[in-house]
Amino acid sequence: ETSEQKQLIELHEQAVKLYHHILINTKMGESALDYLHHRGVNDETIDLYQLGYAPQQRLLKPFFDERQADYQLLRKSGLFSETQDGKLRDRFVDRVMYPIRNGTGQTVAFSGRLLAKDSDMPKYLNSPETELFNKRKILFNLDLARPNIRSKQPALLFEGFMDVISAYQGGIKSGIASMGTSLTEQQIYDIQRITREVIVCYDGDAPGQKAIKRAIDAFKQTDHQLDLKVVSIPDGMDPDEFIRNRGADKFQTLLQQAQSPVDFDLNYLKQEANLKTEEGQAAYISEALKLISTISSGISQDLYLNRLADSFSIDKQVLKQQLQPLIRKNV
Ligand code: GTP
Ligand code: MN
Ligand code: MN
Ligand code: MN
Ligand code: MN
Repeated sequence: ETSEQKQLIELHEQAVKLYHHILINTKMGESALDYLHHRGVNDETIDLYQLGYAPQQRLLKPFFDERQADYQLLRKSGLFSETQDGKLRDRFVDRVMYPIRNGTGQTVAFSGRLLAKDSDMPKYLNSPETELFNKRKILFNLDLARPNIRSKQPALLFEGFMDVISAYQGGIKSGIASMGTSLTEQQIYDIQRITREVIVCYDGDAPGQKAIKRAIDAFKQTDHQLDLKVVSIPDGMDPDEFIRNRGADKFQTLLQQAQSPVDFDLNYLKQEANLKTEEGQAAYISEALKLISTISSGISQDLYLNRLADSFSIDKQVLKQQLQPLIRKNV
């Protein structure tokens, strides 16, 4: 950690305090506070995550000017955008502010959410990449989740950081999330350093299912030693919505019913397949065999073969013969 990084972190900590103060103590923050309350975020959680509000009036720049903060430092912080004549203006305007902390709990960036949907602006605006913040490396909430994961709770991988916060508030405290990017090798490596057990809890909508598929593939591409499972959230909900509607206990039940990546992949394959035609069935079976060939346990392979044979009323021996060369290829 260089002294410049230290100063940038200090700058972020001050911004956290200002935005948080505006949210909880001022008239300006009222609508944002209402927004959070209405989505079920309570005051304890607002305090724990130091949530804030960046008002319409750009207050951050004058705040730092009063404290005679260094221009170059402000410029590098990512908290401001630069006008053509080199002037700095607050980047975040009229947004609920979520501090993004690194693995050691230092705030290195923000994500700001619009209060209303009726806008052509992006729903979330993140800090740009800076000396402190690389979104491909950060795992939201890792600092708070780490001790819980270490004490034998599976790491729960969420799609959005609101899911993490909502789960935490409901007593499910081992959640982490990437910042809207696909899972990177670095993130998988960081997870692997603290646990073997990971449950992917992405959104139950179609993009979420696609993202699960990508995450499973990302895990496959690293030679991880992880016990990976996948949760399916019903009715297209995301974990935050599910927990709000059905409660954290029901979410725990979903976690207990998490499936293996092979089961998820098989289901996914089935949904994409056209099982009405024989060609479609043959194509599905051949892809399913490829997946089954990647299972390391022979017993478990056999069980999958039984299921496949049953559901298409075909001879298991035929499937076995087709499977053998695939297994050899994998070795
Ligand atoms: P809410 O609508 O507040 O409940 O957020 P969400 O977490 O459900 O968001 P969503 O499922 O749409 O997206 C998941 C994650 O993708 C978010 O947590 C963000 O990190 C990221 N994301 C979503 N929308 C945007 C966007 O407009 N810009 C950027 N940069 N990231 C986004
Ligand atoms: Mn209120
Ligand atoms: Mn989504
Ligand atoms: Mn979502
Ligand atoms: Mn959501």
